[in-house]
Amino acid sequence: LRREDRAISIDPTFSIYMRTVKARRAHYMPVPLKDDFSLDIDSLLHVANTMRAKLLFLCSPNNPTANQFDKDSIHRILEGFDGIVIIDETYVDFASYSTVEWIKEFDNLIVLRTFSKVYGIAGLRLGYAISNREISSVIRRFKMPYAVSSVALRMGLKLIEKDAFIEQKIHEIKKVRSNLILNLKSLENVKPFKSDTNFVLFSLSKISSEKAYNQLLEQGIIIRKIGKVLNFKNCLRVTVAPPHIMKKFITALREVVEE
Ligand SMILES: Cc1ncc(COP(=O)(O)O)c(C=O)c1O
Repeated sequence: LRREDRAISIDPTFSIYMRTVKARRAHYMPVPLKDDFSLDIDSLLHVANTMRAKLLFLCSPNNPTANQFDKDSIHRILEGFDGIVIIDETYVDFASYSTVEWIKEFDNLIVLRTFSKVYGIAGLRLGYAISNREISSVIRRFKMPYAVSSVALRMGLKLIEKDAFIEQKIHEIKKVRSNLILNLKSLENVKPFKSDTNFVLFSLSKISSEKAYNQLLEQGIIIRKIGKVLNFKNCLRVTVAPPHIMKKFITALREVVEE
């Protein structure tokens, strides 16, 4: 991106896209999701093409809404937009499909992946982009020198050998996630949303997210304050943790929302 170029994404989504676009002095154009958190494909394509955007960021599964967009919608975007499409698959391990194979089909696709989530090494700063040869060679030309330490690389190599262990972890996280959603549903004034990630977004109807957040904090429970998400005014996001922690969280939240 150069100064005054345009990049497009959805709203709400991961805030770092906007920050990186603005750091390039380019324009960031967010297009709201539909009320059910699905993609508004017609609006996205209309804005992207009329504004001649160079780049389209798509976080799928999306942070903070936690849903993975359906294959057809993403396909339609790739077919209808000529600029670069960056699909951020940070949470894909907890979802049902990946778009990586589509790199063979679409020459404008870049898929981002990270070791920060399921591998649990966010502090080591290791991630990667998957794309075709042409785009990869451009990225290589512009990447920061010494961007990844040899310690992080070695650790990454070791971790990708631990397939079975990681599969087991994903299985466990998904199980805890299902229970967490069931427990949230059982609380009064709480509406959890479907999740394809390792976190669950939920909205509150009787108490502000700010107040609930502070009351949980007083009990030593830190979750993420999200606030307004489209029509839902008071949203919070909780990361799936081991069952005993989830139990503590649900007990504390019950007190907060049903007091
Ligand atoms: C959608 C999304 N992309 C990227 C990241 C950051 O990943 P990394 O730790 O690899 O920078 C996060 C972290 O929360 C995220 O939610």
